Amino acid sequence: MTPQPQARVFSGIQPSGGLTLGNYLGALKRFAEQQGKVETIYCLVDLHAVTVWQEPEALRRQTRELAAGFIAAGVDPARSVLFVQSHVSAHAELGWLLMCVARLGWMNRMTQFKDKAGKNAEKASLGLYAYPALMAADILAYHATQVPVGEDQKQHVELTRDIAAKFNHDYGVDFFPLPQPVIEGAATRVMSLRDGTKKMSKSDPSDASRINLTDDADSIAQKIRKARTDAAPLPGSAEGLKDRPEARNLVNIYAALSGEPPDAVCARFEGQGFGVFKPALADVAVAQLEPITRRMTELMADPAELDRLLQAGADQADAIARPIVDETRRIMGMIPRR
Ligand code: TYM
Repeated sequence: MTPQPQARVFSGIQPSGGLTLGNYLGALKRFAEQQGKVETIYCLVDLHAVTVWQEPEALRRQTRELAAGFIAAGVDPARSVLFVQSHVSAHAELGWLLMCVARLGWMNRMTQFKDKAGKNAEKASLGLYAYPALMAADILAYHATQVPVGEDQKQHVELTRDIAAKFNHDYGVDFFPLPQPVIEGAATRVMSLRDGTKKMSKSDPSDASRINLTDDADSIAQKIRKARTDAAPLPGSAEGLKDRPEARNLVNIYAALSGEPPDAVCARFEGQGFGVFKPALADVAVAQLEPITRRMTELMADPAELDRLLQAGADQADAIARPIVDETRRIMGMIPRR
């Protein structure tokens, strides 16, 4: 089998907590926009989530909530393959095979492991360490060519390319296409509302640092009003925000929500202070997020329907990944099961 020539998008999100504005702008919104242009496959990566402790009941709830978030943000199960990672055994199977291709030295360079394991890496799970090899399997099991992600996942997609290239080289085949990370737009790295040098994250202990997709209009407006900023007025172009991380973050969020370039946002608010800009940002944010939150709540009211959609997605995903993983085993010299 040769690499699929057609473009195919694959990406995933962990059901490890609520969705943030960072997940929405860096991933979900862009996932929805890809539909119709190319084949799109989106995955709820629960096997990745359990690399750190998850309360079983919470994981079940968060997985369905994430499915509702995908759909509410515009990912249409009729136009995209939407499924849960653990439902398709090809992921775990190819993950193992690729762990035997990836090198320890490569894994040791992964900054996300260092961040997540912290000082006590000895106590981290083996799964957390192997995490990027499973992520490579997610992507390569579909011969995906494009991987839309936020800036923080770039290193993992580059590792996926290294693993694919080493596999092709070692076995003398042209089997796995080398996927491209697609990191585009004004919000590839949405920062904390409390600290413009830190990523907005679902694991930040301060809820005021992030906007959650489940926040109501009042809390969105309040969090934006309280967001840290500086005293200077807005400059006429984005260039003037270079050394102003908090101001830059808010302008980038506005730009990503409204679909305008950051320069256009600056030009419109040039000379104005945050007393004017923040309420305008809150209006744009609420207008865009409120219908999503509402739709998520509606979808969550019918978990059986969500499960049905995810089951259908898993069947579609399995039909694509199964032959690719079978072929990987054959290339590696494993005899077929009769
Ligand atoms: P995860 O679940 O941490 O995040 C999901 C997506 O949201 C993006 N993101 C952000 N983008 C901009 N600003 C932020 N503050 C922000 N926070 C999160 C992430 O970059 C990501 O695109 N390892 C992945 C999940 C994964 C995956 C894959 C992705 C597993 N297998 C295969 C792509 C392809 C992760 O932990 O994402």
